[in-house]
Amino acid sequence: MTGATPMDHAHPHRAPLLIRDLRADDADARDALITRAFADTPHASGTEAAIAAALDTHGIASVSLLVERDGVPVGCVQTSPVSLSDGTTGWHGLGPIAVDPACQRDGIGTALMTAALERLRSLGASGCVLLGDPAYYTRFGFAADPRLVLPGVPPTYFLRLAFGDVVPSAKVRYDAVFEAG
Ligand SMILES: CC(C)(COP(=O)(O)OP(=O)(O)OC[C@H]1O[C@@H](n2cnc3c(N)ncnc32)[C@H](O)[C@@H]1OP(=O)(O)O)[C@@H](O)C(=O)NCCC(=O)NCCS
Repeated sequence: MTGATPMDHAHPHRAPLLIRDLRADDADARDALITRAFADTPHASGTEAAIAAALDTHGIASVSLLVERDGVPVGCVQTSPVSLSDGTTGWHGLGPIAVDPACQRDGIGTALMTAALERLRSLGASGCVLLGDPAYYTRFGFAADPRLVLPGVPPTYFLRLAFGDVVPSAKVRYDAVFEAG
């Protein structure tokens, strides 16, 4: 939900988070945020900021959210439609997601994940996939599933969350901007 201000029960004196749609004038701050967040991340490609920019510039992103604390951007997340080889539509890929390293482990990533998934559901999406560490994403309902395959990646790290009862059997392809970076 845009403008959501989740209560910070663990830190009641901390300014609330404001989650909102990304605006064009956020581009530079978002770029710097993603670059900082991925700088020390294993498996980072170094192209995450360029991918995020391309998703917005070309109108590919289905969800593009920024989270602010005290007016300062501290995190961002995007989703974009993915193609399924069986022709099923309505599935989206989540990523990149990034939280400023100075603010990590404080619930901001959780707030962003929750907001992005809520938005996808409100858009009528059928499901969401992502490439990530199951230790983090299973808490949001994501799970590896042999029916959905992202060629070339370890299956245990390719995770799905269906919003309905149906999980297609298909190969998944992200938009070409993820390859170009
Ligand atoms: C992944 C990321 C968005 C999480 O944001 P965050 O604000 O730190 O997350 P939260 O505070 O909501 O959650 C923290 C919890 O997640 C765990 N966690 C965070 N990243 C994790 C990871 N990569 N693998 C496993 N657990 C992870 C923390 O240990 C902590 O666990 P706890 O709640 O049991 O203590 C953030 O760490 C980040 O920006 N990382 C660098 C960029 C990245 O790797 N993005 C994901 C790939 S697209």
